Amino acid sequence: MDILEKINNLRKTLNQANENYYEKDMPTITDSEYDEILAELSKLEELYPEYKSIDSPTSKVGGKVSEKFNSYKHRYPLLSLGNAFSYQELRAFDIRVKKALNKEYIEYMAELKIDGLSVALIYQNGELILGATRGDGSFGENVTNNIMTIKDIPKTIKIKGNLEVRGEVFMDNKTFDDLNTIRLIEGLPLFRNPRNAAAGSLRQLNNRITSQRRLKSFIYEITYSDKLNYKSQDEVIRLLKDNNFSTNNKWIKGDIEDIINFCKKVILERNSLKYGIDGVVVKVNKLADQMELGYTEKSPRWAIAYKFPPEQKETIVKDITISVGRTGVLTPMAELKETLIGGSQVKRATLHNQDYIIDKDIRVGDTVILQKAGDVIPEIVRVITEKRPQTSTPYIFPDKCPICCSEVIKIEASIKCTGELYCPAQLVKGLIHFVSRDAMDINGLGEKYIEYFVKEGLINTPVDLYRLKKEDISVLEGLGEKSANNIIEEISKSKTRGLGPLLYGFGIPLIGNKGAKILAKSFKSIDRLLNLNKEELLEIETVGDKMADSIVAFFNESRNINIISELRSLGVIMEDDTRNLSEDLKGKTIVITGSFSGYDRKELSNLVELHGGKASSSVSKKTSYVLAGDDPGSKLSKAVDLGVKVITLDDLLGLISERMKKDEYNK
Ligand code: IVH
Repeated sequence: MDILEKINNLRKTLNQANENYYEKDMPTITDSEYDEILAELSKLEELYPEYKSIDSPTSKVGGKVSEKFNSYKHRYPLLSLGNAFSYQELRAFDIRVKKALNKEYIEYMAELKIDGLSVALIYQNGELILGATRGDGSFGENVTNNIMTIKDIPKTIKIKGNLEVRGEVFMDNKTFDDLNTIRLIEGLPLFRNPRNAAAGSLRQLNNRITSQRRLKSFIYEITYSDKLNYKSQDEVIRLLKDNNFSTNNKWIKGDIEDIINFCKKVILERNSLKYGIDGVVVKVNKLADQMELGYTEKSPRWAIAYKFPPEQKETIVKDITISVGRTGVLTPMAELKETLIGGSQVKRATLHNQDYIIDKDIRVGDTVILQKAGDVIPEIVRVITEKRPQTSTPYIFPDKCPICCSEVIKIEASIKCTGELYCPAQLVKGLIHFVSRDAMDINGLGEKYIEYFVKEGLINTPVDLYRLKKEDISVLEGLGEKSANNIIEEISKSKTRGLGPLLYGFGIPLIGNKGAKILAKSFKSIDRLLNLNKEELLEIETVGDKMADSIVAFFNESRNINIISELRSLGVIMEDDTRNLSEDLKGKTIVITGSFSGYDRKELSNLVELHGGKASSSVSKKTSYVLAGDDPGSKLSKAVDLGVKVITLDDLLGLISERMKKDEYNK
């Protein structure tokens, strides 16, 4: 047998095994047999690279763990859609379209907007050769190995030549519930909603996991094809269906009023669907019209997404609990019967404060209407009083702190515990804040250890942290020499974070991360802050009356003065030493999203600021650039929507002078 024949035989065996495993759910060989054959094939392909092939099982399926996803440049970018939040906005879209095309009648096609993640599937001569995620729209991740495990995505089709189709990969509600139930039993973190679960499952390095997650797809677009002819979107859907793609059959065509009626129907049926949707996509049906309308920079002019009004559902308030925050504020929470709403499982909703509860007369045992719009936090709209149990009584807000039993006082709408640092809740939360990322950033000393050390009586103030010795903590159960050493080292490292993080870490009321940075930059040393009066503070543009009072009060408090002087004697740096390295980013506001190899986001925002720029966390029209890394979040789509320029890490490094590359910065 010659080598090629041997290679082909091995490939055939593996392909058959894959089909049995992934598509028929009936494995015919064991995992180790599979791995053995795969190893033999890989070896031969290595020795005879001329026989390598992209559709070999070595580069396709097989449960192997790939290094990392390669990036894939989309032939045509995956754009986003403009939104319509009301029927009025849909009618306005219709008027725009008619005007641009100079026509009196336009036929639209409305499809469900599936809440999954978009993928591009590339076929060559009837074979699926590549699957990619949307990524940032221009570059996606090559997730072919994972796509191959999705049963309803055809691996071979009758259509020859080059073809790209696009659609949505999603997880249905039942699969999501089952998955989270198993994760709960296994003590694994739960997925927030089916969309996240689908994304997490598709982006697995081990495609056996993807295969177990039972993902599904709905395909809705033919991006290009050199063999097919079609003139309208409904023809596209029919063609896709005829070629064994999974298409969603809930769609209609008609004029804009027909579409609006369809939207109304979908809203009513939404909860009985087996999968999540977040709107209706309305498309001009004729492709010739689509062509004529064309695209803006970010979205097609021939389509729009109708977004549903916030979803509402009934649920039950099982209990009302109170949490005590860092500043002592008692926040009531409704513990709810868990419900899937607006794409996520919700079991708690904030009740804000006492007045809110009184206003809405929310009681334990009440049936309530819960509302959730998009990414917004869920809220209780009202109580269904007809369903209130007869024995129900109004909720009585505690008159003592539920944690430390200290008296409470009412300040404006808030009820506050007066226990201050005698209250374990405030103490622990204050310390957690002190060590947090934007404050002293003490790595490895998380919530768990702070709680533990406080409970053991080892720490009561930030000063105690710097007095901790390895011997104090290495003897504690669950901590060895190694982690004790590590913690002490990290605490020591944090001494040089500088004035801004320290001020933020103190948790001065009304002073956030940004405020702390401004104070540090303006006054440079803690000694100046200790001797400031209100007028000097008010000279700073961003410091208002209440903020100034809060700062003055903090630095006049003898307890705080003592903490500061003790921290200083323990070697904590109290000066601002952030000299700018350049002014290359002066006047630029940059929002960072996604992950970057070799840098974490905090390092990058420091980098931006060291070069005179401003790092911001929310995208607005004023944002100069959005720096997008791998797996960017919603900030990227917001940037695209607002027309904000999106840059890569290389672009950013290009903007700052050559001398300032990572190594230099790390010195
Ligand atoms: S058509 C130019 N049809 O919605 C984009 N998109 O907000 C044309 N989506 O990225 C897309 N269901 O991931 C279209 N039936 C559908 C859809 C759909 C879900 C997603 C898609 C797109 C996003 C745009």
